[in-house]
This record gives sequence, C-alpha cells and structure tokens, in this order.
Amino acid sequence: MSDLPRPGEKQLSLPPDFDAGVHFIGRIRTPWGDRSECPKNANGSDAVCSVEVDPRYEEALTGVEAASHLILLYWMHAARRDLAIQVPRHHERPRGTFSVRSPARPNPIALSVVWLVERDGRILKVVGLDCLDGTALLDIKPYLPSVDSRPDATMAPGA
Ligand SMILES: C[S@@+](CC[C@H](N)C(=O)[O-])C[C@H]1O[C@@H](n2cnc3c(N)ncnc32)[C@H](O)[C@@H]1O
Repeated sequence: MSDLPRPGEKQLSLPPDFDAGVHFIGRIRTPWGDRSECPKNANGSDAVCSVEVDPRYEEALTGVEAASHLILLYWMHAARRDLAIQVPRHHERPRGTFSVRSPARPNPIALSVVWLVERDGRILKVVGLDCLDGTALLDIKPYLPSVDSRPDATMAPGA
C-alpha cells in the first residue's frame, strides 16, 4: 500500500510471511463501486445485495435458510494493512486499529450480520452489507440469537 498515512496515524511493521491461507468461497455483489459510496457500516443501507457462492460450495449451503440472519465474513481487498494507529474519517481522535471497525487492519476481514431475504440455489439475497461490489466472501455462519446477541453490550460515548 503506497498511500501515505493521514496526520496522526502510525504505521506498523508486518511480518515477512503469512501464517495461513484462505479460500475465497464466492463474491458479494453490491450497488457500490467506490468506497466513498459504501454505507459507513452494515446497518446504513436497505439495499438488497447478492452473495454469489461458488458452485463448489453450493452443497455446503444446505439448511442455511433455517436462519433469518447470517454472519458474513469478507475480505476488504482495497484496505491498507499496516496501521497501528488510525484516524477514521468519522472519529475525532486517533484510535488503535483493534478498537475500530475500519477495514484497514493486518488481516482485512470484515463482518456483517445480514438478513437473509431469500436463497436461490447458490445465490443469497441479503440486506445489511457495506462493501464494494466484487468483494470476496470468506465464510458464512448462522447468526444465533441465543449465542450472539449481547443486549448488555455498551460502547463509551464519543468512542
Ligand atoms: C467501516 S467498514 C465495516 C466493515 C464491516 N461491516 C465490519 O464491521 O467489519 C465499511 C467500510 O469499508 C470500506 N470498504 C468497503 N468495501 C471495501 C473493500 N472491498 N476494501 C476496502 N474497503 C472497503 C467502505 O468505506 C465501507 O464504508
């Protein structure tokens, strides 16, 4: 990544080698072709997006419709990976990378909880995404209200 950090940001030194590999399992189709057009977060749009799972993994979708909501993990290919401290546009202060949901992180993995509108074979229609058209899909998991919901969760004001 050749972009210079913004004022207040600090770079880190990434290890020379990767520790693991991933298989992209599909592509996400959204209306957004530029990062500036994407919703800031996954609850920022009602757009119905398509998750195109590769044919190789279609059988692995069996039963996915049992869940009203899914957790999608995807790969933010256009993000830089070398920031320890960053200044996201909507934050006033510099923040540690692991304290924000910015796509810029050593492993640019994003997650969103999406509403599964319908499944047509290996195509899932979902609401609740914030990524560029063509973003690679890493994994799909059912959202389990009994496990994943944390009604007591808080975030400090202004953080
Ligand atoms: C704040 S991140 C949140 C991502 C995810 N919902 C999460 O919480 O992990 C969403 C932003 O990432 C940026 N973005 C979207 N797709 C991207 C991609 N493929 N590569 C890099 N940045 C992307 C857009 O600016 C978008 O507004």
